[in-house]
Amino acid sequence: AASPLASPPHSNIASIIPSLPLETRCPPFPLRRYANFWVPEVILKADLPGIHSCFKPRPTDVFVASFPKSGTTWLKALAFATLKRSTHPPLDGDHPLRRCNPHDCVRFLDANFNQQKDELEALPSPRVLATHLPYSLLPGSITGDRERSGCRIVYVCREPKDALVSAWLFTRKAASALGADARSFTIQEALELFCDGRCMCGPQWEHVLQYWEESVRRPDRVLFLRYEEMLIDPEAHVRKLAKFMGCGFSEEEEEHGVVSAIVELCSLGKMRDMEVNRNGSNMLGVKNESYFRKGVAGDWSNHMTPDMAQRLDKVVEDALQGTGFSF
Ligand code: A3P
Repeated sequence: AASPLASPPHSNIASIIPSLPLETRCPPFPLRRYANFWVPEVILKADLPGIHSCFKPRPTDVFVASFPKSGTTWLKALAFATLKRSTHPPLDGDHPLRRCNPHDCVRFLDANFNQQKDELEALPSPRVLATHLPYSLLPGSITGDRERSGCRIVYVCREPKDALVSAWLFTRKAASALGADARSFTIQEALELFCDGRCMCGPQWEHVLQYWEESVRRPDRVLFLRYEEMLIDPEAHVRKLAKFMGCGFSEEEEEHGVVSAIVELCSLGKMRDMEVNRNGSNMLGVKNESYFRKGVAGDWSNHMTPDMAQRLDKVVEDALQGTGFSF
């Protein structure tokens, strides 16, 4: 009999990929529509089956989850710096985040899972890992549907127009490293695809909604954060994050300014200036500097017309009607 971990539907998906709807207009990856989401074919082929059949979550694991271009890099850095502060104090001159890009300190489960599974297994607890997968595509061992403990998940949500613009600019910059040419990919094309949910792990609002609903259902296991609110008060969010991860700050730490040291270490300005982020690249060949741009709320207005904005706002508003959630 099949082991419970290898149970359908996701572990045997490779065989049905050719029959799934295909989208090739969205660089850099061909996407397939699977379980109501547009997922890169490469993730469906290798990563998803591997994750569902082999990944062994630990009750102490913390997952940083997000729709792409929503503040993942920042949240990875904050979660890592906060959870690992006893081993790596934020003021430590040799802190891993001063030597490595946040994406190297906190790995995506859904990027080359099969190549890195032994490395992930060897990481000391508590681990911080990351995913762009929709909640409904995570294995039950992570969500807690199968094992009572489950892991902790921290989700960062971003306003859709800013997420779209950030993704579009990133794609134009980084696609060549991934073997695609996105120089002629216009914001109009990106918008049309995005409104139709046709983007990596889209529809964006469905991705957000799933995690939000889960955060309402299980607030002790899923923490839902908003990028725009984090920008306004990062220290309050670091305290919230620490408490949620089970490592709230002591009075002594507060007195010593540990919270502000973490915020400072992970700030866009500091991260962007680090040598590794100015000149390094990740294993895919994408330059680390491409992960740090403006980092503000509302930059969409410099790239989209009011009509374009209205179109997306309407699509999102209609889709979210009756859900109780709004951006
Ligand atoms: P912009 O393109 O709007 O500037 P992700 O990390 O999910 O790929 O999201 C990228 C967005 O987060 C980019 O937004 C980027 O500038 C912003 N970002 C990266 N590091 C950040 C940090 N330390 N603080 C705040 N925003 C950050």
